[in-house]
Amino acid sequence: MSVVCIEFKPGLEGVPATQSSVSYVDGQLGILEYRGLNIKELAKKSSFLETAFLLIWGVLPQKEELESFEDDIRYHRRTKYRIRDMMKCFPETGHPMDALQTSAAALGLFYSRRALDNPEYIRTAVVRLLAKIPTMVAAFQLMRKGNDPVQPKDDLDYAANFLYMLNEKEPDPLAAHIFDVCLTLHAEHTINASTFSAMVTASTLTDPYAVVASAVGTLAGPLHGGANEDVINMLSEIGSVDNVRPYVEKCLETKAKIMGFGHRVYKVKDPRTIILQELAEKLFDKFGWDKYYEIALEMEKVVEEKLGHKGIYSNVDFYSGLVYRKLGIPNDLFTPVFVIARVAGWLAHWKEQLATNRIFRPTQIYEGEHNVSYTPIEER
Ligand code: ACO
Repeated sequence: MSVVCIEFKPGLEGVPATQSSVSYVDGQLGILEYRGLNIKELAKKSSFLETAFLLIWGVLPQKEELESFEDDIRYHRRTKYRIRDMMKCFPETGHPMDALQTSAAALGLFYSRRALDNPEYIRTAVVRLLAKIPTMVAAFQLMRKGNDPVQPKDDLDYAANFLYMLNEKEPDPLAAHIFDVCLTLHAEHTINASTFSAMVTASTLTDPYAVVASAVGTLAGPLHGGANEDVINMLSEIGSVDNVRPYVEKCLETKAKIMGFGHRVYKVKDPRTIILQELAEKLFDKFGWDKYYEIALEMEKVVEEKLGHKGIYSNVDFYSGLVYRKLGIPNDLFTPVFVIARVAGWLAHWKEQLATNRIFRPTQIYEGEHNVSYTPIEER
């Protein structure tokens, strides 16, 4: 007998939409695991590409497997001339997330063969997306400034190469390492809005470039990945430690959301935030202090005092922007950088979805009218 769920849950809060073994979150204890491995251990011991392999294929790679995965990604980093030419036509005033969504979807035009039941096709699509997305993000950044894109540098690893293509100089090894850890921290987070979007698109058996493009569009919103950009704008608007308390109080009075705080799942401080805060401090020690950090620390204190009882604490977006600023990443590239990492998680869910696919087709509770008669236009 089939059971019909008739209780409507806005935002599908608490409604299981799938069975997954990709990642696990305990929002009360502040635990995040990828394939059972704790994020704290991965952040310390793994690399982003190893973590991506783990997420997508479910196990840590053997040494040769990892080397071949890294080599293939290095080989596929360049984009076709015609993709670069297409990106040159994008308006320089457009948001980089829109540029990225368009470019990710365009990959489907160039790699149109679709063989979702072929493991080699799956691997190549994974490699292409992981390899080309950073190149496209950096290329748009340089082209909108009127510069030519910088070609990937084969002797640099994944994280260092992205910073090199973006800032047109090789990064300091500590900066590159910290960026790699940031990618690991953002690689996956269960069924959030963009992952759900990826899964729904995947369930139609469309191509992986369309899956990623739809997820990019979903991540762009300010209630999801777009929040880290808003955090920096907010810290800049606040301007000084003394203005923090009045700012928070005004937000609470007017019921405005304070960016970088709150999470649908975590009711304690997000474990990734704790690691990001440590990384930010390491960067400040080596490359100089950021005055926004003092404002951020005061905000955490005041927001915790006012909203801690509701389980509202800083989320992953609160400190990521401060780290990215120090790495020379402009504000409106924070969310595209999030994509570089999260594409690993989306692809893991794409692959999982294909293994047991059934097209998503939820139901609705109809609240409209019935049997309405048509009124001719002149009588309305
Ligand atoms: N500032 C002030 N109040 C907040 C905040 C916040 N950032 N977040 C939640 N609250 C309050 C709500 O007003 C609500 O109060 P009420 O019970 O008096 O009505 C209560 O806490 C519950 O909040 P909801 O909005 O129901 O929580 P929900 O789970 O729907 O939303 C969300 C989570 C969207 C992340 C929300 O906390 C928010 O908008 N935060 C700011 C944006 C942000 O930082 N987004 C990044 C999230 S992390 C990520 O996507 C990678």
